[in-house]
Amino acid sequence: TSPGRVDALGRELRDLRISVTDRCNFRCVYCMPKEIFGRDYQFLERSELLTFEEITRLAAIAAGLGVRKLRLTGGEPLLRRGIEDLVAMLAELRTPDGEPLDLALTTNGSALPVKAAALKAAGLGRVTVSLDSLDEARFQAINDVRFPVSRVLDGIAAAAEAGLGPIKVNTVVKRGVNDDEVLGLAEHFRGTGHALRFIEYMDVGSSNGWALEEVVPSAEIVARIGAVHPLDPVPPDHPGETARRWRYRDGSGEIGVISSVTQAFCGSCTRARLSAEGRLFTCLFATTGFDLRALLRGGASDAEISDALSELWGGREDRYSERRSEFTAAAGAPAPGSEGGEGSATDTTAAATADAGRTRQRIEMSYIGG
Ligand code: GTP
Ligand code: 5AD
Ligand code: SF4
Ligand code: SF4
Repeated sequence: TSPGRVDALGRELRDLRISVTDRCNFRCVYCMPKEIFGRDYQFLERSELLTFEEITRLAAIAAGLGVRKLRLTGGEPLLRRGIEDLVAMLAELRTPDGEPLDLALTTNGSALPVKAAALKAAGLGRVTVSLDSLDEARFQAINDVRFPVSRVLDGIAAAAEAGLGPIKVNTVVKRGVNDDEVLGLAEHFRGTGHALRFIEYMDVGSSNGWALEEVVPSAEIVARIGAVHPLDPVPPDHPGETARRWRYRDGSGEIGVISSVTQAFCGSCTRARLSAEGRLFTCLFATTGFDLRALLRGGASDAEISDALSELWGGREDRYSERRSEFTAAAGAPAPGSEGGEGSATDTTAAATADAGRTRQRIEMSYIGG
């Protein structure tokens, strides 16, 4: 297979995560707290969003530089009107070797009962559904809009029925909030064919007031589940995988853990992120994105856009999570960014921004979609 464009640390460009809207119908307390994302919050205007044609054009150019996987995210991507039309357009794209791209979508699941079949028909490969609790009261407290958990479970079932599997279910674990459900969640999805993945709560954005004490290390999760249902590690099936996978010894499926806090995986990070307004971010923790929309709307040719993308990726040095680990390993030390320091000119992460205060200008998860 053809090589991907390589960054300054030798990492190929392989994945493009595309945010199609910054809006969401949930107000998860750790992602879009109502105090900040309230009635007065200024979401992007429709004219600011990339059109489907613009997104498809960028995705095609990215495929030419090595991208093999596209993931649609939000906010909540299923809120973008006509999303299945975009899926259909992206499903037509091919790698330089003539292969279709891996096309996935991350959703809160709320619209899947209505949309799953149309998404499948349009050519979507698979979905990942976020689900942080199975307890009705708690789930509603987390999404903060009284959305019933049963509807999300219906959404997962609808996606499975439509053939949008194997389905992944993502659970962000926060100490004292839902860590008592780890075993219950595992047992709920054991034997269903859906892969449950536990995500360490991250210090993304500036809305969630993150504290290291709230992170439940993946090792603890694997130990807790494994004590009841023995688990064996599964070797990664491709480089750059975010989740470490574990298989139930009795053959009833697998779980995954995404350990971006305790076991950073920047060394193999092949992901670029495109915001809904067309800014390209080379890291989830970046503070600034490159304005591709200006190129698109300024009449640049495909070759010019490809060169810009290539140059951007070629200079990429981001490895925020690894550097956070270096900092947090020193007891009580603040996360990178709070003291500036070692960031270089091309490092776009918060750590590069001296004295800016680490909680201020990072992009929000709801803006870039995880
Ligand atoms: P597949 O496994 O191929 O479906 O994709 P994936 O592993 O990227 O899964 P997904 O998009 O569901 O990502 C799951 C979560 O992992 C995200 O919501 C983030 O919380 C976290 N994550 C994904 N990519 C990164 C990354 O590049 N850096 C960090 N720090 N976290 C990431
Ligand atoms: N840490 C880890 N994951 C997060 N997500 C949102 N905020 C955070 C955070 N602070 C997750 C969502 C969803 C995915 C898109 O990102 O729960 O699964
Ligand atoms: Fe919750 Fe996802 Fe919406 Fe954020 S984008 S508020 S995590 S559903
Ligand atoms: Fe990639 Fe940045 Fe996440 Fe590291 S912190 S894995 S470089 S997106």
